[in-house]
Amino acid sequence: MRLDKYLSDMGAGTRSELKKEIRRSGVSVDGAVVTDPGFSVSQSSHIIFRGSVIAYEEFVYYMLNKPAGIISASEDDRESTVVDLIPEPKRRDLFPVGRLDRDTEGLLIITNDGALSHRLLSPKHHVDKVYYARVSGILTDSDIGLFRDGLVLTDGLECLPADLKILSVSDDDYTSEAEVTIREGKFHQIKRMFSSIGAEVLYLKRLSMGPVDLDPGLAPGESRRLTSEEIASLKL
Ligand code: URA
Repeated sequence: MRLDKYLSDMGAGTRSELKKEIRRSGVSVDGAVVTDPGFSVSQSSHIIFRGSVIAYEEFVYYMLNKPAGIISASEDDRESTVVDLIPEPKRRDLFPVGRLDRDTEGLLIITNDGALSHRLLSPKHHVDKVYYARVSGILTDSDIGLFRDGLVLTDGLECLPADLKILSVSDDDYTSEAEVTIREGKFHQIKRMFSSIGAEVLYLKRLSMGPVDLDPGLAPGESRRLTSEEIASLKL
C-alpha cells in the first residue's frame, strides 16, 4: 500500500496533509528516509513518523460510555457524534456497533471491524444486551412473566423472551428500577417493551453487550481501548 495511505489509515492525518509532510520532512521506512508519498509499504514495514513508530493495526476497538445528548453515528454535518468522542488521532473508518438513542447512556463499542459488528448485531446470533432502566410505575412479578414469555409491542411486533430483573420499586415517587436483558435489537426496543406494559422509560443505560461489560471507571463521554481479552471474547 502507499505510504500516505498507511499513515492516514493509522490516523496520522488526511492524505493531502500527509503528502505535503512526507515530501517536506520525509519518513523513515525500514531505516531509510523516504520522501515519496506513493512509496510502497506493507503491514510489516518499520515506519517512524514524527519521531514515533507507527505500527500497522488493521482493526481497532474502543468502548465508550456514551453520554446522553450525543447521536450514535460516525459523522454528522451539524453535531458531534459518538465517534468524535474518541480522543486518539482519529481513523476515518470508525463506526459505532449499533445505535443507542440520543438520550440513552452506556456501553457502545466503536470499531472499524465490519465483520465483528455484523456478528454482534445479526438477529441470528442473539447476543445478550443488558440495560439498566428507571421507569414510571411499580413493576411486579407478573411483568417478569410478560417479558419472559415474549412481549407483543403495541404495533403487533413480537419480541423474543427477555429477562426482567426488578432492582427496586419506590411507592413514594411511583417509579421502579430494573435490569433488562434482550437478545435482539429492534428500534427503541426497551422503551417500546416498557410502553407495552404501560410504563415509561425515564432513564436508560446499556451495561453490557455480549461478554463485554461497561467499565465502571469510565465517566459518561470517556472511552478506552478494549483489552485483548475483551476483543477475543467478542470473537468467540
Ligand atoms: N432500547 C431503547 O429503547 N433505546 C436504546 O437506546 C437502546 C435500546
